[in-house]
Amino acid sequence: MTQTFTVTTPIYYVNGAPHIGHAYTSIAADVMARFKRLDGYDVFFLTGTDEHGQKVEQAAAAGVDPQTFTDGISADFRAMSDAMGVSYDDWIRTTEERHKVSCAELWRRIVKNGDIYLGHYEGWYAIRDEAFYDEDELKKQPDGSFIAPSGAPVEWVREPSYFFRLSAFQDRLLKLYEEHPEFIAPSSRRSEVTSFVKGGLRDLSVSRTTFNWGIPVPDAPGHVMYVWMDALTNYITACGFPDANAPRTKYWPADVHFVGKDIIRFHAVYWPAFLMAAGVPLPKRVTSNGWWLMDGEKMSKSIGNVVEPRKLAEIFGLDQIRYFLLREKPFGADGSLSHAAIISRINVELSNDLGNLAQRSLSLIARNCGGVLPARGAPTEEDSVLLASASALPDLVRANIDRQTFHDGLEEIWKVIRSANGYIDRQAPWALNKTGKVRMGDVLRVLVDTIRVVATLLQPFMPGSMARMLDQLGVSPDARTFAMLTTPLTDGQTLPPPQGVFPRYVEPSA
Ligand code: MSP
Repeated sequence: MTQTFTVTTPIYYVNGAPHIGHAYTSIAADVMARFKRLDGYDVFFLTGTDEHGQKVEQAAAAGVDPQTFTDGISADFRAMSDAMGVSYDDWIRTTEERHKVSCAELWRRIVKNGDIYLGHYEGWYAIRDEAFYDEDELKKQPDGSFIAPSGAPVEWVREPSYFFRLSAFQDRLLKLYEEHPEFIAPSSRRSEVTSFVKGGLRDLSVSRTTFNWGIPVPDAPGHVMYVWMDALTNYITACGFPDANAPRTKYWPADVHFVGKDIIRFHAVYWPAFLMAAGVPLPKRVTSNGWWLMDGEKMSKSIGNVVEPRKLAEIFGLDQIRYFLLREKPFGADGSLSHAAIISRINVELSNDLGNLAQRSLSLIARNCGGVLPARGAPTEEDSVLLASASALPDLVRANIDRQTFHDGLEEIWKVIRSANGYIDRQAPWALNKTGKVRMGDVLRVLVDTIRVVATLLQPFMPGSMARMLDQLGVSPDARTFAMLTTPLTDGQTLPPPQGVFPRYVEPSA
């Protein structure tokens, strides 16, 4: 049976419009999903929207009922994901019936295990983060009020509440992090989470009574589930929980949850604890991305510097943006987005390094070889060096994708592209046309074979452009998996006329 691989994105709050931060996590997860599909896995890629809670209820308040409001924003997030090439297999919404059934069952199992009890909550709550805070975590403002570490305003909440016995899971969580160091990535986040848990865990308030926009707590009128308990459960809902015979059960546990660094605590502490309490297997990995800043500043609606991903793709091209986002900064680190940085990546790496390499090689074949793919000749020392670096590439890239070190994976690919550019300059096949036609064919074939490996491995990052490049290289659409890289291209086939894949970006004149 084909091995399964399950990738998830966070589900997005529907309190505002999608922006580049949301697109980023989804595109990174998409690269992973596409890579695993090309590597022969049976992939399940899940994304969607997080539609309950006080924050959404408040956003909807102005005369619209919350369901109508969330319908509109969820559809917009979905349209954004489609526009950014996110190849999800399921779009989950937490207001769906299947999810209500799943949450209620998870709750009942935890109750049965004795890890939920009724109490009274009194403390600080930040609606913007949908999170409870201890007083010693808060920052005092000059006016004497408090704010959360994230900068969100907090309010004092006092209400009856069910509690989850999180304190009882400290040892089990620490054992999980120790036995499975790969569970939290990058390792800096693992240390952060570990010290948070070592510092002691308080029981968690998991129901609210002061508003209604949520999933009702089973057998407890007036209580709705804490939105994070509801939201996290989406991952198992989509895998068919609680129906043990659902076809999707083969996709749980998830192989990797992609999350932003701001929500690692929910995924690496609360979520495994809920699952342990309910007797459900744990996900294998939670990987967290850093933040994009706009020209070095935090994006915010009030500053007015929030970047609309579709707009960016319209200006620069979708694949160009996907490439930029994964190439510009290490996945786990913060980075700054600017038009100048995007243009530089496009013009230097995509147009010059890769685009010109393909265009130069293919137009020589069109011009000097009658558009026919030359056969491989007996390799020279230099040919063998380049071909060996291309053959070694799939394993190197795979190892980086498995660790979500996307920028290092791309750097490995670019090392080969740069070597191929050095090779074409030294071999100068254009000069061989008159003196050494056979050698010219050999050189061009070495180049085509190298570019084929590069373009095949780049498909997850830039699906549209790489499909066009592979068409021009004579790779048939059913031969673009990684396993097919060991099957040689058909000698003597006629290649389509070459066309540049990455035009230089030229700033429109004002
Ligand atoms: N609804 C919760 C997630 C529930 S998952 C069970 C949530 N939603 S969110 O819409 O606020 O954020 C979703 C993701 O977008 C988070 O992973 C967050 O880190 C990411 N980003 C939001 N702004 C970002 C940037 N400026 N840069 C990078 N990612 C950021 O949290």
